[in-house]
Amino acid sequence: MAPLTLLSVPLLLLPAISYAVDPLHINIARRTPRTGTRDFGAEAERVRIRYGYTNSSVSRRAKRASTAGVPITNQNSDSTYFGDLTIGTPPQSFQVVLDTGSSDLWVAATTCANCGSDIQLFNPSSSSTFKGSASGSQNSNIDIQYGSGQVQGSLSSDTVSMGGFTVASQTFLAVDKLSSGLVDGAVAGILGLAWEPLASTQATPFWQTLFQNNALSSPEMSFWLTREINNPKAAVQTYGGVFTLGGTNTTLYSGDIEFLDLTAKTPSFWLLDVSAITVNGKSVTIATGDAAIAAIDTGTTLIGGPSDAVAAVWAQVPGSAASKANPGLYTYPCTTKVTVTMAFGGKAWPINTADMNLGPETSGSSQCVGGIFDLSMGTDIPASSSNPTWVVGDTFLKNVYSVFRASPPSVGFAQLSSAAGGSGSGATSGSSTATSVSQSSPSGSSGSSGSSGNSSSADASHLPSLVGLIFSMFTAIVFFF
Ligand SMILES: *[C@@H]1O[C@H](CO)[C@@H](O)[C@H](O)[C@H]1NC(C)=O
Ligand SMILES: *[C@@H]1O[C@H](CO)[C@@H](O)[C@H](O)[C@H]1NC(C)=O
Ligand SMILES: *[C@@H]1O[C@H](CO)[C@@H](O)[C@H](O)[C@H]1NC(C)=O
Repeated sequence: MAPLTLLSVPLLLLPAISYAVDPLHINIARRTPRTGTRDFGAEAERVRIRYGYTNSSVSRRAKRASTAGVPITNQNSDSTYFGDLTIGTPPQSFQVVLDTGSSDLWVAATTCANCGSDIQLFNPSSSSTFKGSASGSQNSNIDIQYGSGQVQGSLSSDTVSMGGFTVASQTFLAVDKLSSGLVDGAVAGILGLAWEPLASTQATPFWQTLFQNNALSSPEMSFWLTREINNPKAAVQTYGGVFTLGGTNTTLYSGDIEFLDLTAKTPSFWLLDVSAITVNGKSVTIATGDAAIAAIDTGTTLIGGPSDAVAAVWAQVPGSAASKANPGLYTYPCTTKVTVTMAFGGKAWPINTADMNLGPETSGSSQCVGGIFDLSMGTDIPASSSNPTWVVGDTFLKNVYSVFRASPPSVGFAQLSSAAGGSGSGATSGSSTATSVSQSSPSGSSGSSGSSGNSSSADASHLPSLVGLIFSMFTAIVFFF
């Protein structure tokens, strides 16, 4: 079978709206061949874990399944959501992006010259449980490609813990080269929360080891992500919600969770089909089947889709136009409230109008940038059952309680509880109401920060955050053979 490019060229235009005049081009190389010297000890341990021949790999009172709530940090007004994890003995602590669009774990290491001085760097020599890949092995160096950049590092293994769960001998990349602008502020790495087939390290992801070892009370990972985009006073880093590992947190949602089966038989990304979209109550015609496969991706800021579908969405908004300054993005009059709903085979979930409005295109402009962009930019991504043509990121996910379930493999959405809408520092109107497709739900900004008045001044307040905003796209770029 011919190699299939997943999410190839188009992701790359996204790196940063504030100075994205030229799309960033990343050469996509084939994945490093799967040969050469590896850490066979770690490999053996992974096999043991998979088949249950282990007593110590997953601690937390072995076989006593449990659930953990991990606090999330919201960075740059909903651009990135990250949490805390430790590696090594004694534990070294790192802030890592919680990314359902990729499957590798990496952290910047002390060997990294360009990783910046703001972040914690992993020091292998300070960990008594660290195992590096065999030195001199040409394949111990691995690249991981994302929509907004790449990292390179050496295969490593060590004890990894999050929220009280521990996996011994977790394979990860100790990164010594980081493309500029990939991560920001305190973020020192990425924790991939998608499935093993996507992993450039070929390692079983942390979450999947916990699942396979029956360490989780329930085979689920759940997210409540806060909204700050409509809060002009939002700090660069602020409270971002709760990541629940091993179940759901019933205080954060109301009603039933609508679970939808993953579209692919062999899970890689968390893929669902986009079944319907409405804009201000009107339904939009979009391609279906393989052309409608969406990766549900907490590591991507916005929503990207195929050119035709995205054009059809913006065609419903009077005064909208393709952005010249930011190819692939669209603008619309800042005073217009745009309510988009998306459905994935079931309920239509409305997106808060504040999430759709990323602020003025340029300082003082009356045109604002919209949160749904053209992912494919006219290129032909081969449609296939494992190729996402949509990436559904935080612009959507802030509006629901989302549950990533390993068994049966599915993604669930539920309404956020009023507690989830009202808590957090300055988060407003987090709650959305699922509607039937025919009904539009103007779930625009409301709530405590008092921005419900003059919409043009509210929109102007986005400017500071927009200028600083880097749109992250931590969606994996991989090749299947
Ligand atoms: C499991 O524990 C037993 C007894 O403590 C030990 O002999 C055995 O080597 C352990 N097996 C593994 C795979 O760690
Ligand atoms: C559930 O979420 C609430 C609200 O954020 C939080 O206070 C509580 O600690 C969470 N529960 C668990 C078990 O994490
Ligand atoms: C909103 O603010 C603009 C600019 O300050 C002003 O011209 C306009 O009249 C205001 N609209 C409302 C409804 O207050």
